[in-house]
Amino acid sequence: MQFTENIFPQSATVDDNGELKIDGIEIAAIAESYGTPVMIYSSKDIVKATKKFVEVFDRVFYASKAAPIISIEKLIFGQGAGCDVSTKGELEVALRAGCDPKKIIFHGNNKSNEDIKAALESGVLRIVIDSLDECDRVEKVAKELEIIAVEVQARITVGIEAHTHEAIMTGGNDGKFGNPLITGDAKKVCERIISSDILHLKGLHCHIGSQIFETKHLAEAGKILAQFLVELNGANKQDGSEKFEVTELNVGGGFGIKYEENDDPPAPIEMAKAVRSSVDSVLQASGLNKIEVWSEPGRALVGTAGITIYEVGTVKVIEGLQTYVGVDGGMSDNARPATYDAVHAVWVNGRGNNLSSDQTQHVAIAGKHCEQGDILNKDTVVSKEVSVGDLLVMASTGAYSFAMSSNYNMLTRPPVVLVDSSASEPIREIVRRETIDEVLSRQV
Ligand code: LLP
Repeated sequence: MQFTENIFPQSATVDDNGELKIDGIEIAAIAESYGTPVMIYSSKDIVKATKKFVEVFDRVFYASKAAPIISIEKLIFGQGAGCDVSTKGELEVALRAGCDPKKIIFHGNNKSNEDIKAALESGVLRIVIDSLDECDRVEKVAKELEIIAVEVQARITVGIEAHTHEAIMTGGNDGKFGNPLITGDAKKVCERIISSDILHLKGLHCHIGSQIFETKHLAEAGKILAQFLVELNGANKQDGSEKFEVTELNVGGGFGIKYEENDDPPAPIEMAKAVRSSVDSVLQASGLNKIEVWSEPGRALVGTAGITIYEVGTVKVIEGLQTYVGVDGGMSDNARPATYDAVHAVWVNGRGNNLSSDQTQHVAIAGKHCEQGDILNKDTVVSKEVSVGDLLVMASTGAYSFAMSSNYNMLTRPPVVLVDSSASEPIREIVRRETIDEVLSRQV
């Protein structure tokens, strides 16, 4: 059993005793100060990942649903990226993190009037239109606010089914998002926007799913979207009226990351480059070199940068059947294993590195919720010495764990700590631990 890089933050190191440090800071010291469970993010990892994406695309919008945390968004926006939000709440986080509204894209398959009003009042850059009904709704709210022009992108379903968990696959024609090309709905929604006095079609968008490993699927989706853009602009010119020009092609997010040793995805940035070049080849062949290519990475910016530290509270051996290592959190702070069968790698702090197979055992990591399905990892290899009081690290929890957390069984949500050895405050609490009074404050 060996410490696996690319699963943990790049700034992580492990010594011979198996003591983990993030950016030179001992995780044991953080657990001591903030208690467990605690989430830790490496600032340097987030900055590095964002910079790479900003180099590849004309514009990058952080998909903030991955980790809607003000201090993390500040880091990302500091590298020049904007923000993708899908609700009024996510919009509020981005604005509080200081994002210029002219760098915010508003998504959602069923935006409420309130969502639309918040988007228009704050002056976001684009609303991504998801349905015909939404065209009516945006026009209506804009009229009420006496806004005469709203620049939008149309979400197109390109019919590429990426191989990922069914729940996070969005590019298929029967999904709830977007307007399929194959049924003619994509064309219909574009025509509806073009004929509007208020809506102005500036771009096309697609997002085929999340945690995608197959570069070819992302590249193919980008290509199909680019072909549709070329077709749309061409029809406009032929008609002679040149009522619009679609100049933005938004390829969404979905760039997968390594979660376990057996995962072998291309680096997210390599996938990004492949998508960009696939899109560029279509655009250049059509003489449309001025089209801007945008993307919306979420997981690729924050996923590997974050880890969760738990304390082991029980080691239960059911002879010949299973050993459960019980920790002090679970599906309320990380719903991904229970929801998507997601696998997060595990590290037991201070129980050695490079262990031989006779020094290790197969165990399941059990959460503390009153539910058998609350298993954080069904089968992982840890030291035979694992004991009550050990710190257990779950890797790559930076994306969608904080975002999907809950108070199931009335657990209070863990704090989040940002580490950066070169900052004036190397260990900074950016979200404090929730209290039971806060949880109960809504009950009247
Ligand atoms: N753009 C749109 C329109 C999206 O819906 C999403 C993610 C993204 C960008 C960013 O995708 P990413 O780069 O992070 O893959 N909770 C699930 C993932 C749900 C993804 C939702 N949409 C999980 O924990 O795996």
